Amino acid sequence: QIKMKGVKALVDSGITQIPDFYIKPVEDRALEERPLVDDQVPVIDFSGIYDPVSRSRVVKAIGDACKEWGVFQVINHGVPKHVLQDMIEVGHEFFNLPLEDKMSYYSDDLSQPVRFGTSYNPAKETILEWRDVLRHPGSISPEAVQLWPEKPESYRENTTNYLKGAKVFAETLFAALSESLGVQSDYLQNILTEMMFGINYYPYCPNPDLTLGLSAHSDASGITILLQDQIAGLQVLREGRWYLVQPRSDAFVINVGDQLEILSNGRFKSVEHRVTVNKEKTRISIGILCVPLGDTRIAPISGLIDESHPPMYREVIFKEYLGHYFSKQHNRKSSIDSVR
Ligand code: SIN
Ligand code: FE2
Repeated sequence: QIKMKGVKALVDSGITQIPDFYIKPVEDRALEERPLVDDQVPVIDFSGIYDPVSRSRVVKAIGDACKEWGVFQVINHGVPKHVLQDMIEVGHEFFNLPLEDKMSYYSDDLSQPVRFGTSYNPAKETILEWRDVLRHPGSISPEAVQLWPEKPESYRENTTNYLKGAKVFAETLFAALSESLGVQSDYLQNILTEMMFGINYYPYCPNPDLTLGLSAHSDASGITILLQDQIAGLQVLREGRWYLVQPRSDAFVINVGDQLEILSNGRFKSVEHRVTVNKEKTRISIGILCVPLGDTRIAPISGLIDESHPPMYREVIFKEYLGHYFSKQHNRKSSIDSVR
């Protein structure tokens, strides 16, 4: 079935018009009357985090960004530039493999741990998303790595290096986020123990205005660590306006996900975001969803509840939350709205 081979296979077949089942309703398209506001998402220099004098300033900037935006970019995060470049490069190499190689990992079942797929949730969508994806757990234990794609040749090595670097950064970031919430610095580290890794591939598209790479959604994660290539496409919603997240090859984009919104009792907001596609260029992004174990109970942190701040969400079990999240197409913040 043509739908399930993905959008790369579709453009490789030479189409000049997108099929109808990619055409989004007008109200979902990224056609703002107001101009998109450029480059306003906070960019935070992380280098001060290791210095006791400047640390509190960086922690405050992170907390403010989580409250006001639910998203920020981090520069000087400590992961070397060549590790980021090698990750993007091997991502392209994976999607450029012959279709048969990728199809051996194909699944529509979002709970499959190692999975090549297309769109977001094709079994549940009437209109598909203009994206292909590779997903697998972010653990770099030998047993876990053995389940990753064998091709391309440098896939396992490059991805391991990337995840190693990202883990060191994530630990420091979790400490900063915990401090900013006023809880002990290992609080989030002890909850967000797992990583889900993914490569998003958005081929050039003959009718970019009619479709989207991903429709508006917030992430089900605690936080998401994202690396964009140089091609613009990621947009975030703030107070009813869409902002472009300016591509920066030296930065990670950090999204607040739904679990952190719940834990913080709404102090931090999970960010609604979407991805546009491009007529000439193929875009890649690398995502790490930092998540709890499935059985973890997630509820507003007790220290963040008092008379003037009653609990805004009921307790959820993470795997049940994810079950709800995976049971539908991307739909704004509908999953977290259902536990308010
Ligand atoms: C995502 O929302 O999971 C991907 C964002 C992006 O491609 O920039
Ligand atoms: Fe996302």
